[in-house]
Amino acid sequence: MHPVIERAGAAAELPAWARCGTRRRAHGVRVGDLLSTWAAHLDLPEREQIRWRAAGVLHDAVKDAPIAELHDVAGDGWPDPVVHAPACAHRLEADGVEDRSLLDAIRYHPVGHPDLDALGEYLILADYLEPGRSGSGGKRDRLRELLPEGRPDVLTVVVRQRLRRLLDKNRPLMSCSVDFWNRLVGQ
Ligand SMILES: [Fe+2]
Ligand SMILES: [Fe+2]
Repeated sequence: MHPVIERAGAAAELPAWARCGTRRRAHGVRVGDLLSTWAAHLDLPEREQIRWRAAGVLHDAVKDAPIAELHDVAGDGWPDPVVHAPACAHRLEADGVEDRSLLDAIRYHPVGHPDLDALGEYLILADYLEPGRSGSGGKRDRLRELLPEGRPDVLTVVVRQRLRRLLDKNRPLMSCSVDFWNRLVGQ
């Protein structure tokens, strides 16, 4: 395991390039803790539990960087609200991280992608359902309690809510988000 991933997963340590305030850092740790709990529940080996936790700890690691800097790092085609995700994946790649599954989980966590594996899907779920986001009448708590076993059904609910929010604001959808949705509903 790459040392940046090991340190994030085992000690919730962020790399020197992270741009992430206290509250966001706490959100990342909660997402990571939820992911490692699910990984343990799914009987994944300890190494995988550390790797899943790292994905959560790191997923928003550059979200507080200036937006122009994030676009510079991420390249074209990413809307402002999601550009922190590919920018973080790029930073990890520049550090020598070659774990494609973890990189894609981070890169696509706000938008989805049809090629995401279990880690990528659970990161979307943990980001949306981590206990610090509770509220909205306990609906998130109820969805979280269905996991990790209820992944396909809960993922469909969560992704539908995210897409609906964009549609209600007349915002464009990325094609990878549409393809992800079509895969989820079996089209
Ligand atoms: Fe994010
Ligand atoms: Fe997040």
